[in-house]
Amino acid sequence: MSQTARGRFITLEGGEGTGKSTLQIALRDRLAGQGVDVVLTREPGGTPRAEAIRALVLTPPGGKPFAPLAEALLMNAARSDHLDELIRPALSAGTWVICDRFSDSTRVYQGVSGEVSPEALQSLVAHVVGPTCPDLTLILDAPVSIAQERRAARKGPKDAQDVFEQRDLDFHQSVRLAFADIARSEPDRCKLIDASRLPNEVADAAWSHVAQLLSSAEVH
Ligand SMILES: Nc1ncnc2c1ncn2[C@@H]1O[C@H](COP(=O)(O)OP(=O)(O)OP(=O)(O)O)[C@@H](O)[C@H]1O
Ligand SMILES: [Mg+2]
Repeated sequence: MSQTARGRFITLEGGEGTGKSTLQIALRDRLAGQGVDVVLTREPGGTPRAEAIRALVLTPPGGKPFAPLAEALLMNAARSDHLDELIRPALSAGTWVICDRFSDSTRVYQGVSGEVSPEALQSLVAHVVGPTCPDLTLILDAPVSIAQERRAARKGPKDAQDVFEQRDLDFHQSVRLAFADIARSEPDRCKLIDASRLPNEVADAAWSHVAQLLSSAEVH
């Protein structure tokens, strides 16, 4: 009896407005063109319970953000549910999963203040993710000014900003540097993509890595 091949797990990371959601759709279309079953999801969120936690963290009651440790715990609680209910069952069924933000975002966003140590964040994330580590993480990198212009162009003037979007330029610069550090420290899993280019050029660069994953999946 032949077993269904496990799907592959791809995560998209990077600061706000770098083009993660745009790339997610482009990769889904290209994979679908190769006959691959794909599910798109996001963090925090992806399941009803995790989406409820997303709302709590991004628009906290009273407007005051949770402290970084509380945020990290909530993000990981949401992730645990997301992994159990959506990501692992999909991968087991042979479906590929493309997730818009995942554990690297927790390490970056809840680590940037310095209030929670990188070791604590990494060990929490490792415990929750367990063996379900992404096969490939594409980290979108662009100057903060470009990403902010894109977001400004996308959003109407009345759109509410969430607790992360409201932070200042220094915060967003630190986020960019922290993602680049992760890419440097885990070069096998993480690929830094120059996201300042045209959407098609970004998708081509990303696709070169996804195509490698596809050919290795076909061999095994
Ligand atoms: N390479 C690109 N060049 C120019 N504009 C782009 C590019 N990629 C995305 N955009 C546009 O920039 C805006 C932000 O892109 P997108 O929503 O994909 O970013 P995001 O990383 O998902 O943002 P967020 O973190 O806010 O969810 C959108 O209006 C999108 O159409
Ligand atoms: Mg998005």
